[in-house]
Amino acid sequence: MVAEVSEQTRSRPVSILVVDDDAMVLQVMAAGLRQSGYAVTTTTSPLDGLRILRENVCDLVISDAYMPEMDGLTLAETANGIFPELPIVMLTGFGTVDLMREGLRRGASDFITKPFRMRDIPIIVERNLERKRLEKDRLSERSGRILFQAITSLLTAVDAKEHCTAQHSRRVADISLQIGAALQQPEAEMRVLELAAWMHDVGKIGTPDAILRKPGGLTDDEWQVMREHAAKGGEIIAQIEDLRYLASVIRHHHERYDGTGYPDRLRGDAIPLLSRIIAVADAFETITSDRGYRSSRPVSVAVDELKRHSGTQFDPVVVETLLRLLESGRVL
Ligand SMILES: [Fe+2]
Repeated sequence: MVAEVSEQTRSRPVSILVVDDDAMVLQVMAAGLRQSGYAVTTTTSPLDGLRILRENVCDLVISDAYMPEMDGLTLAETANGIFPELPIVMLTGFGTVDLMREGLRRGASDFITKPFRMRDIPIIVERNLERKRLEKDRLSERSGRILFQAITSLLTAVDAKEHCTAQHSRRVADISLQIGAALQQPEAEMRVLELAAWMHDVGKIGTPDAILRKPGGLTDDEWQVMREHAAKGGEIIAQIEDLRYLASVIRHHHERYDGTGYPDRLRGDAIPLLSRIIAVADAFETITSDRGYRSSRPVSVAVDELKRHSGTQFDPVVVETLLRLLESGRVL
């Protein structure tokens, strides 16, 4: 049996730390685990065990429950506080229900009763690694779902204030993704791009209805208020910990390539690339889509507009990329 960690560490064997004040137990355990393909570090000192955990990558801990320096449950509790996903298996001379309850409460994930049969240990190791993996998957799936619902309800609130925002944002996200793919953005950046494009106008939730829905042109003061939506959007998103990395992309989606945009008058490459992509997609979508107060204009008008403002308002490389996509018929 060759043990391997599944995701992030495919190339290295599973690394196990064994802590027991009985050197004999350590020796037997280490030899057995190594034979099963695990990388093993041992120590007789729980404090040294904590140091090893802090300084090394470790996938699982097997620890004696009773040691003079620090008992195993305190070790489990401390290690669990630092690495909540680390499985910690307790070795006990006698397994009472109370001890197990106490152990689980303090961060242990499983128990091995001494004397143990070495052939059972890899099964216990794999069981605990797998359980932690499943817990992690379930947790991230659940938090992903909650996040998606939170985003959707935020966007629904904006859409209720300014009709068609949701439809516009979805389309800006689609166009942004096509530009991002053509610019060969890595997968992680593409995910950020999609969410940021989808949520780029979320700051309009704080813009007064009288301005958002005002027919005809806005006064200078009203424009000033309207422009605040970019910074506001960044601030709203920065409050959601899992989305903090989107905040600056959203904040800068109205910067101009020549440095005369808002909110920070960033210029050229100082503007996040994803914001430059969203700016072009946003303009293209706004021109070519139907808005309540204005019907859509042909793609050729949008193309002229993008060309005219390439290098001043828009990043020329991004404009060029969208034009190429349009020529090849990939964006409609
Ligand atoms: Fe905007």
